Amino acid sequence: MPNVAFINGAFVPLADAKVSIEDRGFQFGDGVYEVIRTYKGCPFSIEAHLARLDRSAAALDLTQPYSRAEWTGHILEGVKRAAYPEAKIYLQITRGVAPRDHAYSDDATPTVVMTVREFHPLDRSVQATGVEAMTTEDIRWGRCDIKSVNLLANVLARQQVKQARVFEAILVNSGLVTEGAVSNVMVVQGGTVVTAPEGPRILSGVTRAIVLDLALSEGVSTQERFVSQSDLYTADEVFLTGTTVEVLAVIRVDGKVIGDGRPGPITQRLAASFASRVG
Ligand code: PDD
Repeated sequence: MPNVAFINGAFVPLADAKVSIEDRGFQFGDGVYEVIRTYKGCPFSIEAHLARLDRSAAALDLTQPYSRAEWTGHILEGVKRAAYPEAKIYLQITRGVAPRDHAYSDDATPTVVMTVREFHPLDRSVQATGVEAMTTEDIRWGRCDIKSVNLLANVLARQQVKQARVFEAILVNSGLVTEGAVSNVMVVQGGTVVTAPEGPRILSGVTRAIVLDLALSEGVSTQERFVSQSDLYTADEVFLTGTTVEVLAVIRVDGKVIGDGRPGPITQRLAASFASRVG
């Protein structure tokens, strides 16, 4: 089964999908992206991802070349061509090709690419036991709500994760937990799920919003406010949310055991209701 690539309106073999060395995405990280996964071959929460792509593009004054209906058509076509049991769909829009100059001209034609690759969901045993995380300083810029391809700080954080042999980096800005390097972070304190508020310090995760809704429908109270790094260590439960991680318990942070070192009851309830939602 092929990895599928789509570039500026055409499906091509991945190896033939090329962009210019003067693309502003390559030279400046001047672009935005989305990651969507399928469940049983169906792209999950496509509307919410495309809405966020619109918001990210608008925030960078980037022309969104396709309507949501057009994007949906391309995505479904890509998923059909790839024919994987489960797929990870990557969409990217950059400002296009121009002689290098930081300022851009209004008439640049965006470069649009999509890849559809096989997605391997996390092993159920990882879900069952939970994962270990580390904290690291959040050195990102002041508009983390824009899903920009400028991911240097996230790249460095994920490299630390790899070297430390843990699962995720939890980012801390001035002593406050913002989010993970590729996920949102939630903690449970006295039965309430607490997560950083939407705004410039975090990416407003599609999974985050779904999980906050599920919590309410499960009768679990939620609060959107920052918690401190020390609150993280003493939380009853900590979990991650995201397209690739779903709802995933964190059982140790910086070597410190969270709760009793096993996925807590609220995390398990939310993971189960997320699983039935996607099912
Ligand atoms: N990242 N926060 C950050 C910094 C992220 O990069 C992501 C997802 C999330 C979770 O958002 P969502 O629930 O919408 O997937 C939060 C994707 C998967 C990535 O960059 O590969």
